[in-house]
Amino acid sequence: MTESLRVLIAGNWKMNGLRASLPEFEAMLAGAAALAARVDLLVCPPATLVAAMAEKARGSRIAIGAQDCHVQVSGAHTGDISAEMLVDAGAGFIIVGHSERRADHGESDARVRQKAQAVWRAGARAIVCVGETQAQRDAGQTLDILRAQLSLSLPDESSADNLVVAYEPVWAIGTGLTPTPKDVEQIHGFIRDLVVARWPAEGKRMRILYGGSVKPSNAAELMAVANVNGALVGGASLKAADFLGICAACAWQSGFAQVLMFCVSALWRLGAGVSQGWRGGYGVGNPRIDRVTPRHLRQDR
Ligand code: PGA
Repeated sequence: MTESLRVLIAGNWKMNGLRASLPEFEAMLAGAAALAARVDLLVCPPATLVAAMAEKARGSRIAIGAQDCHVQVSGAHTGDISAEMLVDAGAGFIIVGHSERRADHGESDARVRQKAQAVWRAGARAIVCVGETQAQRDAGQTLDILRAQLSLSLPDESSADNLVVAYEPVWAIGTGLTPTPKDVEQIHGFIRDLVVARWPAEGKRMRILYGGSVKPSNAAELMAVANVNGALVGGASLKAADFLGICAACAWQSGFAQVLMFCVSALWRLGAGVSQGWRGGYGVGNPRIDRVTPRHLRQDR
């Protein structure tokens, strides 16, 4: 069974939002206060709104993040914004390597890696996005693409505290399409295996978000999938009702999962105690129990 990680629901407003959107954000803040404290909530507005929203969010359950940054601290880079500037304005997370940046601005994996390091230099956490296009999926290259993106975009210094991985199939972004839960399970399991292989201890605790057409109606189902530790939400994060609907579905799902895990582990301990009593044998670390840990499928490699 995978370790239970705290769920993160992150809203990515992309190039949307004016000061006139602040009341919508205030509605999110009001609704978030009523949610059980089981999920971490984050909204990443455009840079122009980071300071105003960080001010409003102070002391609330919603953290503020930003989208993209330059790799340098400062300098002659007209129109760019550094991670330090975004952190100074109130951002605690910065999204880097989103497929829209990779496609529209030609950002390479190496550039994304430098940006993640810039985010850390400024004292924030990086959300690094990876994902395959429709053509790559159709060609059966999904896992190869993800392996390459992850190995080249994630810096060696990555840890569970400074990094969140977001799997966002490009074909699912803004299209209303989502992979099946079985596909998501396979891919998130694959990503988990890769990060654990590279960072044996930290990789188990790194949060892996799913992104691409997450809505209130599919959030609980997606969050129930193994190794899905939250969501990166685009369009549906712009409206308080939708964003809070997703957060509520995830909070419910994560509460349910915790209760379920508690029951399973209690039953397991009971069973182990009984068998220990009977045969003097099965406890934590016992090879028979360790073998139960599911390995994730890799058929399409
Ligand atoms: P979407 O976008 O939820 O609108 O599909 C997700 C994203 O690109 O982060």
